[in-house]
Amino acid sequence: MVFEAFERQFEALLEEKSRKYPNSADYFRHSFLRSITTQLEMMLARLRTEIDKDDAYWENCEQVVSDVLSVMEIKSDELLSLEVSDLPHGVRDFKTIKEKLYDTAAYPSQEHLYYRNFEPALERLRFLSKQLKKLSEIDMQFCDLGFGPGVLTQFILEEKPAWTASGIDISPECVHYANKLMKLKGVDERVQFTTGDIRSLPYADNTFDLVLAMEVLEHIPDPLKGLLEAVRVLKPGGYAITSIPVQLPIPMHLYVPKSPREVLDLYEDVNLEVLDFSAKEFKTKMGSFVATFALSVKG
Ligand SMILES: C[S@@+](CC[C@H](N)C(=O)[O-])C[C@H]1O[C@@H](n2cnc3c(N)ncnc32)[C@H](O)[C@@H]1O
Repeated sequence: MVFEAFERQFEALLEEKSRKYPNSADYFRHSFLRSITTQLEMMLARLRTEIDKDDAYWENCEQVVSDVLSVMEIKSDELLSLEVSDLPHGVRDFKTIKEKLYDTAAYPSQEHLYYRNFEPALERLRFLSKQLKKLSEIDMQFCDLGFGPGVLTQFILEEKPAWTASGIDISPECVHYANKLMKLKGVDERVQFTTGDIRSLPYADNTFDLVLAMEVLEHIPDPLKGLLEAVRVLKPGGYAITSIPVQLPIPMHLYVPKSPREVLDLYEDVNLEVLDFSAKEFKTKMGSFVATFALSVKG
């Protein structure tokens, strides 16, 4: 057990001082033990909060984790070894971020695991679900720009059995992962994923009834370019569902809008008429930020 190994190491470290200075070493031992006990109690309290969540929460966690295990063809004890390492300090250029992050085999599975319990990701799904209820068209061709693990594409294809999808992502690893996820979910015959850049889409003008660009525009330094491309491939009267975080300056975000107003201005600049907009604050380990979500129509 990890605690026994820890105790052995602790005593080995303290051994010499215990022989020479038994009282102060003992005092040190007890104060160290008290601080560990406090930390463990805090961890248990956090665990209790998690355990007390309802069945819907746990069922969603179970589904996401088992999907990731199936796609990655691994067992649950191997999941932690998939963690993506931090980007080198100070990295802010797209090429390095692509190489060190998006192009790693673990990246799509990490993005998928966010849908287990990371509130901003779950809110993305809730917003999407709300908008899909308004879109009553029987069949639609949509394109998921920067689809990542493919969770949102899968969600739409399951909700709308007659719709078909295209998708583009800069990461070949995401294409590989998302293709496997679509197969697992039995929706692979209705989707075509391609590796490519949102700033130069390989689709003709006016192709899609709906484009999705959720949590991707902030990953490029020139979001206007990406958004103009999204609008170009959208049919007149077609819809865009987008999400962009505000004031979340993490290394892979090369565009950090200062306010929801700035995001709205961006949509206006590309002739998207916003039909529904929400801005919601989240407090996360990365700090607090505002997530914005929009449903727009091409004017
Ligand atoms: C945070 S993930 C979001 C994934 C997905 N849209 C979602 O909400 O679950 C961002 C994705 O954008 C992709 N990406 C980053 N820059 C891109 C670009 N220039 N063109 C296309 N995809 C890009 C990354 O590879 C990554 O999969």
